[in-house]
Amino acid sequence: MKGIIFCEFLEMAEEAFGIVVVDEMLETTELPSGGIYTSVGTYDHQELIAMVIRLSQITKTPLPDLLQTYGQNLFGKLMETLPQFIPQNQDCFEFIKAIDSYIHVEVEKLYPDAELPRLRCDEVDDNNLLLHYSSCRPFAKVAEGLLLGCADYFNNAFTLSVADSEQPSDHEISFQLLRTKKSA
Ligand code: HEM
Repeated sequence: MKGIIFCEFLEMAEEAFGIVVVDEMLETTELPSGGIYTSVGTYDHQELIAMVIRLSQITKTPLPDLLQTYGQNLFGKLMETLPQFIPQNQDCFEFIKAIDSYIHVEVEKLYPDAELPRLRCDEVDDNNLLLHYSSCRPFAKVAEGLLLGCADYFNNAFTLSVADSEQPSDHEISFQLLRTKKSA
């Protein structure tokens, strides 16, 4: 998994809990990389999982809450750090449909060792979109956070819920997005 994802996690953890907690997390987690990440490097995603679990223990914050908050912050950071991948003048659903078909494809061209999830979209109608996440990594909660970050970015243009037709898991989940405003 790309280092940018790790760097953003450490930044979020420091902003939310402070450097002392982050140091304790790094010192008490088994990390083959030694806890030093560069944004272009590639690291085992298990290191990220190990750090989030440890942070959850130290701060007594439920793991799903940490993963979701992390994803929500990560969205804005990705938009800032990788602006070349952002199609312009799209409405929120066009943007979301472009993640799998364009944004993540471009990410993979730039970083051939990146491993992206599948994000399949079913457009029920103009105001109702189903998005199906699947990945070999257990980051469904991060995906949910990223979508919340995306809703923030589009000024709350849609509401998000877990679609109840499926049995959600950390590797596979479906979300329902309902548009709240026209042409946002
Ligand atoms: C709502 C919008 C998005 C969702 C739901 C989403 C979902 C995800 C998830 C869940 C991952 C973690 C890997 C996995 O679960 O298998 C990921 C990785 C990644 N995404 Fe996205 N993403 C979104 C938007 C973006 C945008 C806007 C960018 C770039 C501008 C981006 C670039 C990346 C990169 C660089 C990775 C890391 C790949 C790796 O480490 O190998 N994503 N995405």
